[in-house]
Amino acid sequence: MNISLRQLRVFEAVARHLSHTRAAEELHLTQPAVSMQVRQLEDEVGLPLFERLGKRILLTEAGQEILHYSLTVNRSLREMEEVLESLKGVNRGRLQIAVASTVNYFAPRLLAVFQRRYPGIGLRLDVTNRENLVQLLDSNAVDLVLMGLPPTDIDVESEAFMDNPLVVIAPPDHPLAGARQIPLARLAGEIFVMRETGSGTRQAMERFFSERALTIRQGMQMTRNEAVKQAVRSGLGLSVVSLHTIELELETRRLVTLDVEGFPDRRHWYLVYRRGKRLSPAAGAFRDFVLAEAASIAAPTLPAGQPEPD
Ligand code: PGA
Repeated sequence: MNISLRQLRVFEAVARHLSHTRAAEELHLTQPAVSMQVRQLEDEVGLPLFERLGKRILLTEAGQEILHYSLTVNRSLREMEEVLESLKGVNRGRLQIAVASTVNYFAPRLLAVFQRRYPGIGLRLDVTNRENLVQLLDSNAVDLVLMGLPPTDIDVESEAFMDNPLVVIAPPDHPLAGARQIPLARLAGEIFVMRETGSGTRQAMERFFSERALTIRQGMQMTRNEAVKQAVRSGLGLSVVSLHTIELELETRRLVTLDVEGFPDRRHWYLVYRRGKRLSPAAGAFRDFVLAEAASIAAPTLPAGQPEPD
């Protein structure tokens, strides 16, 4: 059989996502390029690897076997790359970082400082939601991840590096804007604009309310922080977001935070990588940099007149 490593890499991504589109996004390829690699692998193997069930695709038995072996092959390859990177020294090589979509509000500022310090390191940044980050960690596809809720079902190292206050946002003309010490129960009647199911912000928000036995009314669901903010501005409901996402809107008073009992919900941002992973010198330098300096570069500030996160 003449199977290529590239075919295995593409197949593995499709098999993990059970979606050609999402695999294409992860690999920065077009969808036809992904489909072609899978077809070539199927031709080589002589068996179909996926079957179609309506709009969904599933792995066939042969597909499951190949996934098992390709995970091992791809993991070994990445380990080999990591060892080779470490032989090159700190200001060389590539660094693949993946961040939660919410982290992307400050990640570029961190990368800019880091890149000036280590101009020889080639940086790649993937921005996605929490669910996809967990998959990237699980398949060892990135060096380091910055996220809000480290996974508990895979073996990872996670180190907190900065506060991540979650706040309730409202349009400035909302009846509760400016009110002090709003009882939590007062939110029961309010509609909340929600992030998508795979979002860490959404999980944190749901956990916050369910731990306090408060049932909120769920309104529209949106896959981007930007869309959530627009929806709240347009009066479609309140929402809970990371303070990092709304610095500009608070400054220009397009949105306000509400002083609700229990908020800000004080969470943290974490730097996460697989336990036992051998960090390249470049990845190690980024880890040290984030832990030591991220908070001074990127901590959000509230404009005067907004309830403080403490
Ligand atoms: P997300 O990120 O809501 O964009 O998934 C936040 C987090 O990881 O907690």
